[in-house]
Amino acid sequence: MLIYLMPGGCRPLFFLLAVVLPLVSPHTRNHREQQKHSEKERPKLLLVSFDGFRWDYIYRVPTPNFRSIMDEGVKVEFVENVYITKTYPNHYSMVTGLYAETHGIVANEMYDPALNLSFSMETDSVYDSRWWEQAVPLWVTIQKDGGRSGAAMWPGSDVLIHGMFPSRYLLYNASVSFETRVRRIIEWFSAPEGEAVDFGILYWEEPDESGHNLGPQSPLMDAIIAGIDEKLGFLMNELKKAGLYEKVNLIVTSDHGMEQLSPEKIIELDQYVDRDLYTWVDKSPVVGILPKEGKLDEVYGKLSDANPNMAVYRKDDIPEHFHYQHNIRIMPILLEAKEGWTIMQNLTGLSMLGNHGYNNTLRNMQPVFVARGPAFRQNYVKTSMRSVDLYPLMCHILGIRPLPNNGSLLNVQDLLSLEPTTSTPTSTHTTVPPKVGRFSYAPVVGSFIGVVMVIGFLVVYVITVTLKQRPALKLRSWEMSQPLLQEDLHL
Ligand SMILES: *[C@@H]1O[C@H](CO)[C@@H](O)[C@H](O)[C@H]1NC(C)=O
Ligand SMILES: *[C@@H]1O[C@H](CO)[C@@H](O)[C@H](O)[C@H]1NC(C)=O
Ligand SMILES: *[C@@H]1O[C@H](CO)[C@@H](O)[C@H](O)[C@H]1NC(C)=O
Ligand SMILES: *[C@@H]1O[C@H](CO)[C@@H](O)[C@H](O)[C@H]1NC(C)=O
Ligand SMILES: *[C@@H]1O[C@H](CO)[C@@H](O)[C@H](O)[C@H]1NC(C)=O
Ligand SMILES: [Zn+2]
Repeated sequence: MLIYLMPGGCRPLFFLLAVVLPLVSPHTRNHREQQKHSEKERPKLLLVSFDGFRWDYIYRVPTPNFRSIMDEGVKVEFVENVYITKTYPNHYSMVTGLYAETHGIVANEMYDPALNLSFSMETDSVYDSRWWEQAVPLWVTIQKDGGRSGAAMWPGSDVLIHGMFPSRYLLYNASVSFETRVRRIIEWFSAPEGEAVDFGILYWEEPDESGHNLGPQSPLMDAIIAGIDEKLGFLMNELKKAGLYEKVNLIVTSDHGMEQLSPEKIIELDQYVDRDLYTWVDKSPVVGILPKEGKLDEVYGKLSDANPNMAVYRKDDIPEHFHYQHNIRIMPILLEAKEGWTIMQNLTGLSMLGNHGYNNTLRNMQPVFVARGPAFRQNYVKTSMRSVDLYPLMCHILGIRPLPNNGSLLNVQDLLSLEPTTSTPTSTHTTVPPKVGRFSYAPVVGSFIGVVMVIGFLVVYVITVTLKQRPALKLRSWEMSQPLLQEDLHL
């Protein structure tokens, strides 16, 4: 573009410059080496979720392994997860950076009126790609970028999404032990160059299951929490044995917390409205109600002031701060129990002593968050973040461009080490602006200018040599140079 603005007299000088520049420019060469380097050695990241591990469990019993990750890395005290605070919505938010209304996995139990299909985490409906394709999970994005991912039982990771599975994954099977899952993940990270995964995700069902069965206040939970810490210790040890511990960025978190229930705190819908008037789609504590044809006003009217411990929203009135409204899978009426309360149709069958799903600003709904590794600061405690911020953070660590999302890297970049690390593409640059963490735009801008000059040279060359004979070529050479530019800009 530059060249068209230049007066004719300058062309020979620019021509000379353009011939010499590619030969001497350290930036251009460096950038190529970095590209090669980054293909071989992408930063590694392992995201671990212990289902239902509430933020404060680490203070309840000695948890030396969590403690050691905190000391060597970072901890975030309060993580605001997404509404509703259930397993499927939150696991998908972690790998997409989107609120549930946008990624489309709005509950563990759903109905889609457009598809006329029901989803339940208990059935094979989970394997229908259509539920998942309102968003693109990180493993798909990294694979499209030439990277590799490995998933051990993460919700949704064994489903074909936008035509892809993770490079390595396990079919969901709750009976496969934590230790087996860990060994598989370690194998995948340790595979030979070109086969090793860059991004791993690991899921474990506890302490959620025990939290539901025993209630979080039960003293029996202490042993369960200590057991999770031991499992984390096993993972850390296996990483060390494989020589991965210093290389892999490890994030340990969860989808949600847990609240104590009580048999005295039951809201019985049958007392207020005939159950033939609606379909009960999602279960307590946030209940999706699909009224039968023409019964919306009647059902709403009967429930709206029925019980002081239950908020009743028409879809349009769901509070903004929940970001839980704009999706066809969110039902016309939403019931929300107050913390600790349970909504049922009648009193038959309450067996749970703990549950989650409530308001995501409630502390007891929030998960633990610790992380360590070359990308992270050491011994640093941050007060709060949102779980949607995790996605841009992970994209940054992995060096891939995030898709549009509801998180913000700015909110969490203080978690990142200010030192450049050996495993990052920007490793040869020692000066990094603190504001943007490790990532430096200097090489990008530098190589962009380099490439523009090289292209400028080509254009000058073509013009100089052939302009008089074939003027049309001017246009064509510019078109040809476009893909080159785009490729370089795509980081
Ligand atoms: C929705 O699917 C069910 C079967 O699962 C069927 O009985 C019903 O007629 C369908 N409804 C519509 C509107 O297509
Ligand atoms: C699930 O895993 C268990 C334990 O490894 C195994 O015995 C069982 O056959 C597996 N089930 C399926 C359906 O693969
Ligand atoms: C309570 O509901 C269940 C089904 O959810 C039903 O089988 C049972 O008969 C009901 N009990 C009473 C007392 O209505
Ligand atoms: C959720 O909790 C926050 C504070 O904990 C409160 O301000 C907000 O009103 C609650 N939202 C609803 C709809 O209960
Ligand atoms: C969340 O991000 C998506 C994708 O950028 C956007 O469409 C949506 O409006 C965002 N939601 C909110 C509440 O900002
Ligand atoms: Zn649960």
